[in-house]
Amino acid sequence: MRLPPLIIGDLTIPIPIIQGGMGVRVSTASLASAVANCGGAGTIASIGLGFFSCKKDAAFIKEECVNLLINEIRQARALTKGVIGVNILTAVTNFAELVRAAVSESVDYIIAGAGLPLRLPEFAKDSSTKLIPIVSSGRVAQLIIKSWKKRYDKLPDAIIVEGPLAGGHLGFSKQEIESRKENALEKIVSEVLAVTASFQRSLKSTIPVIAAGGIFTGADIGRFLKLGVSGVQMGTRFVATNECEVPQAFKEKYINAKDEDIILIDSPVGLPGRVIRTKFVDSLDKNHREKFSCIYKCLKPCDVTRAPYCIAERLINAVNSDKIEEAVVFAGFNAARVKKIVPVKELMAELVQGAEHYLDEGS
Ligand SMILES: Cc1cc2nc3c(=O)[nH]c(=O)nc-3n(C[C@H](O)[C@H](O)[C@H](O)COP(=O)(O)O)c2cc1C
Repeated sequence: MRLPPLIIGDLTIPIPIIQGGMGVRVSTASLASAVANCGGAGTIASIGLGFFSCKKDAAFIKEECVNLLINEIRQARALTKGVIGVNILTAVTNFAELVRAAVSESVDYIIAGAGLPLRLPEFAKDSSTKLIPIVSSGRVAQLIIKSWKKRYDKLPDAIIVEGPLAGGHLGFSKQEIESRKENALEKIVSEVLAVTASFQRSLKSTIPVIAAGGIFTGADIGRFLKLGVSGVQMGTRFVATNECEVPQAFKEKYINAKDEDIILIDSPVGLPGRVIRTKFVDSLDKNHREKFSCIYKCLKPCDVTRAPYCIAERLINAVNSDKIEEAVVFAGFNAARVKKIVPVKELMAELVQGAEHYLDEGS
């Protein structure tokens, strides 16, 4: 059986795999276009694009973030005719500007997580760009659907359900993550499918559900498709590809990681983050406190007066080979299963074959 495409309104993604946005220059035009060229959907992450500019004042960096996002989108478009979208964290202080820029470039979709993107339809008004919130529960899915319908007469074009095994910042407390070890994503997906089904009945509109977090093999994809999702979003596997622009040292952290190296930290922005151990991460304890100056408050929930360190600075270190051990290296729960770096084409072929095999065999 051939994998069914992921259909989001009038947008068709031939292979139902979205490469998740990975901030601070992990998923840029290079990776996104390679995925799109293979029939998947390539996502450019907007967070952090402007952090590397040397002229350090807030207004400049804010503008730079927008200009560089436009740049990445245009570069990706030059490299592919496939489906390209942008990931924008709801928690960023320049959310509205980034959404407007992405829409003005007619990206195929915007994925918004890390907070409730309740005003996303307002900033993306009058565009055909598909709006896709990330949720961590059925309750949050319901809240967003009701709010968008009431305020903007608009439904999410699709919903991504991100479970606790994902990489990066997570929408769960550490206790929730610990207490929901078994099939957590499957359970949340079922919750969200029940919510979307109830709206579909009353509003006669389909909201595709996409699963993310810990999906590693083609068989995993097949399993989630069988559960009723229309597609999957994956991050970790795409880091270990030739086209992912992070330096070799970042990829080697993945290749060399053992299960016990993948841990949760308390990010200064008040959310747990899943990372690979580095010297810096090992040095973190309750009393950790660094002096740093913030020239650009990138994330709304970051209280600069209390933050033990600057998360942006540590994420920037991750894409600087010489500073990898001084970095926060985000990674999904399954990162220790990554054994080699491959071209995106090879990874996509493996995933499609595995998913189709699973669906044919039924297990
Ligand atoms: C290095 C890294 C950076 C990430 N950055 C972001 C981000 O900027 N925005 C976001 O919404 N999700 C981010 N994520 C989450 C991914 O988009 C994706 O949903 C998640 O990693 C899926 O789980 P998986 O890694 O197990 O496939 C990041 C994940 C990783 C591994």
